[in-house]
Formats: sequence, C-alpha cells, structure tokens
Amino acid sequence: MIMRKLNSPLAFRHGIEIPNRVMMAPMTSKAASWEGHIVDEDLAFFGHRSKAASILVTVATAVSKYGEKFSFQMSIYDDSFIPGMRQLAERMKRHGNKALVQIYHSGLRSVVSLEKHGRVFGPSNVKFGEIPYEITELTEDEVWDVVRMFGDATRRAYLAGFDGVEIHGAYSHLIQQFFSPYSNKRTDFFGGTLKKRMNFALAIVDEVQKVARDCWGDNYIVGYRLTEEKRHANGDGYGIEETLQLIDALAGKELDYIQACDNSFNEAIYNTIKGRTVFITVPHTFSASDTQKELEHADMVSLARACLIEPEFADKINEGRESEIITAITSTAMAESLQWPHRMIEWLLDPNGSEEVPEGIEYFAPLLERVKFSHPQEIQS
Ligand SMILES: Cc1cc2nc3c(=O)[nH]c(=O)nc-3n(C[C@H](O)[C@H](O)[C@H](O)COP(=O)(O)O)c2cc1C
Repeated sequence: MIMRKLNSPLAFRHGIEIPNRVMMAPMTSKAASWEGHIVDEDLAFFGHRSKAASILVTVATAVSKYGEKFSFQMSIYDDSFIPGMRQLAERMKRHGNKALVQIYHSGLRSVVSLEKHGRVFGPSNVKFGEIPYEITELTEDEVWDVVRMFGDATRRAYLAGFDGVEIHGAYSHLIQQFFSPYSNKRTDFFGGTLKKRMNFALAIVDEVQKVARDCWGDNYIVGYRLTEEKRHANGDGYGIEETLQLIDALAGKELDYIQACDNSFNEAIYNTIKGRTVFITVPHTFSASDTQKELEHADMVSLARACLIEPEFADKINEGRESEIITAITSTAMAESLQWPHRMIEWLLDPNGSEEVPEGIEYFAPLLERVKFSHPQEIQS
C-alpha cells in the first residue's frame, strides 16, 4: 500500500484543493463577547495560526440562541454576526489557506442559553441524574426549524467569506443527542429505530448541502464531525457498530469529508467509507512523524493541541522543516507568544470550574503546567 504523505496535495469533491493534509481542529477559544460576537482576542488567536494548517476550523459556533454551551463562544444565529465573522475569515485565510465555520447546537447541554433565556431544548424530556434542569422536548416542527437554522448559518458563513462549514455531530451536542438512544426517546420521524435516530443528522446534511450549492456553486467544503462511541454509566448510548451505519449513510451524501474524533476505529471507518469521501482522523499527536503514521487508514489529520503549541505546523511540513516542529512548551516566553485568549487559559487551567473542559482533559496536563507560568497572576508573584 502506498502511504499518503502529510505534505501531499488533496482534492475535495466540491473543487477545493489543498497542498497538505493538516487541518486545525475546532477549538473553543472563549474569546467572543458575551453576546457571541467576534472580538480582538479571537482575531489574534486564529490569525496567529493561519500557517498551522491548510484548513482552519473555527470554534463551535451556535446556529441558535438556544444552542450555546460555553460562555463567550462565537454565534452565527443572525445576520448581525456576519461583519465580525468576515474579519475572522480574513485573518484565518491570510496565508492562502481555507477556513470553515464549525456550526453547532448544544441542545440539552446549552447551559449558557439556559442562563440567558431560561430554557433548553432537546430530543426528549428525559431526566438525567447529571442534569438538574428541565429539558423541553422539541416538537417535530421545531426540529425542522433547527434543521433550517443549520442552513441559515451556512449562508452566513458564505456571506462572511468562509470556504464552507463543518457540521458538528460530535461531543454530545444536539446532533449526537438525536443519534443516541440515551437522550432520544422519540417515536416520530426523528426517533425510535437506529435509522430514524439518524434522520436529524441526515436532514441537516441535506439542508446544508442545498444552501452550500446555492451559495458557493462550486469550490466549497461541507464536512461532518462525529464521535465514534458514547456509552453512559448505565450502559445506554451507542457503539461503533451503529456509528459505522451512520457513516455509511453519510458517505452516500456527497460530503467533502467525514471526521472522527477518536482514532481507535480508523481501519473500520476507512473500509466503510470506501473512498466515497475524504476521511479525516484526529490522531492526538504532536510531532510530524507520529502524525504521518496516522495516514495509514485516513486521508487527512485534524490537530487541536498541536496547533495550540505550534502555530506553523503545516508551514514547516510544506517547507520540509518537520524536525523544527515544536511539540512542547519549554519556556514562559514561548507560552506567552502563543496568543491564547485569556479566558481560554483560565478555563483550561481550572478543570473543576463551572464550565466543562474538553473531553480527555488529562491530555492537556503537561501543557497546562507550562501555561500556568504565563498566567498573569503567577507572573506577578
Ligand atoms: C481548547 C480546546 C477547545 C476545543 N473546542 C472544540 C470545539 O469547539 N469543537 C469541537 O468539535 N472540538 C473541540 N475541541 C476538541 C478538539 O477539536 C479535538 O477533537 C481534541 O482536542 C483532540 O485533538 P488533539 O489530541 O489534537 O488535541 C477542543 C479542544 C481543545 C483543546
């Protein structure tokens, strides 16, 4: 088998071509205003990383005012967000790379929307031990409204100058809540059998594709991100076998890529997709050599923490300077140069804080120890 190279070009279904196989994964930066508008820290954070990858993805960006999970997170649920997003697209693309908006709705986990608007919506009004508030079940008409919101967000991404969108079907947000029988107890078009639990995801893909075609015509990217398995303490949830069926259905939808957040099932996923779309894995690596190995059963990689530390990851690969890739923060000065928004640092530094940190926080420990150095209060002391 011929191994794909990190620095080899890749062409997507809808006309976009990129010079290397590195994507910067979506990372919540917590740098927007309380209302979700872009502010300077976000422009600096993303602008500083425009050489990190050939495709950069924004933070999870709310398509509905009822879809916000994190405070100070970007939103795209009405046209007032377009001017800020336009500035962001310009910064992200300033070295000729592509930029996508990750569009999301956090459904029953939208705790910031609960604080702002007093209610949250989900597939079903289920009582979960870990969720102390009431969940309002979306009516079937309201589910279709949410589907259209994903389309509206796609149109705004286009108007702001992005190259496409990534549909966020991962990390227990609304799309995954519909897919999982743990949170979806419906018996209508959107629930019941596995096939019906896929309907919300597939309807969003159709809507987003339709809008994308109307807006961009050609030369755009629509991708889909998912979490392969999610089992809860009571054993409820879904496993890889069900996800492979979802992937098979998604691969028939002319997506530009499917991305899976855990790299444990790459071979099975790759064999399911069978070349119908690009498969992007999340390898959890930092060095070029470790990352390269992950292309055995994937077409491309998506890196988060590596791009937090090394803002020139892809550039160094393009130029054959792989050995110069920085894989750890080794000094306070280096940490300070990385342009991490201050709220992002506070959030990641306090895993016991009021807002959930990304899954797999243990991965971040070595990084956080260093960044602690650059925390303003620690520098003063
Ligand atoms: C600070 C931070 C914020 C994140 N925010 C998001 C997000 O908004 N959307 C998302 O899908 N994943 C998010 N993630 C998960 C990453 O995209 C990625 O899947 C995960 O960190 C594993 O990749 P890594 O091992 O390269 O860090 C976030 C990760 C980090 C570190």
